Amino acid sequence: MRRPLVTGNWKMHGSRSTIRALMTALCHGVKDRGAADILVLPPAIYIPDVIRLADGTRIAVGAQNVGDQDQGAYTGEIAADMLADFGCSHALVGHSERRLLYGETDALVAARFAAAQRHGLTPIFCVGETLEQRDAGETEAVVGAQLDVVAAKVGALALERAVVAYEPVWAIGTGRAASPEQAQAVHAFIRAHLATHGAGATRMRLLYGGSVKADMAGELFAMPDIDGALVGGASLKANEFLNIIARAD
Ligand code: 13P
Repeated sequence: MRRPLVTGNWKMHGSRSTIRALMTALCHGVKDRGAADILVLPPAIYIPDVIRLADGTRIAVGAQNVGDQDQGAYTGEIAADMLADFGCSHALVGHSERRLLYGETDALVAARFAAAQRHGLTPIFCVGETLEQRDAGETEAVVGAQLDVVAAKVGALALERAVVAYEPVWAIGTGRAASPEQAQAVHAFIRAHLATHGAGATRMRLLYGGSVKADMAGELFAMPDIDGALVGGASLKANEFLNIIARAD
């Protein structure tokens, strides 16, 4: 049985006070909201605050990105062992905003993935196609190629210890989520593709991300290959995020 994982990616939103308020509401609210694993990804500078606020609750904390190198002269980067040092458990790698707005290549994503695992962090490895690629019928080719680059760098066993998030670029922040059937079709493809690399794909958790809201979360989570969600905007609203969590059992 794969345990559901609901992750909130806060992106570059918030302040110390809004984040304290959000965490206070979440810590209180998760007590009676099922048994899914819960993870939040604050902007890096707030990670220590959030770790402190989450102490003693079932909310885990991770990072939105992670350095591709161990320590050294890499201005602006945060190393995986620094994140682990503060108690982070996960790091997002390859989010489409990193790929498209900051020019991150598949090779860099693969290096970040490997660095995260070297220091005990679980990578949440994001893949997904643009609208043009979907319309051209290239979804599986694009997603497959994104998986292949990382598989070639880290190997099947490492892949198996990660979480994969399918986030179609056209669904992120647009209010136009993939339908549960569309998401399921790509998740089934991802699981089969991971298996061709020799990864124990039936054990891996695959998350869907892109305009997830509470009103459709139940249908998404009912799909056989969808094991949770990577939630952006809706994770900044405590009640909405708690209602998504409640549907993930
Ligand atoms: P939205 O839920 O705001 O569409 O963002 C999804 C996302 O990018 C999560 O990583």
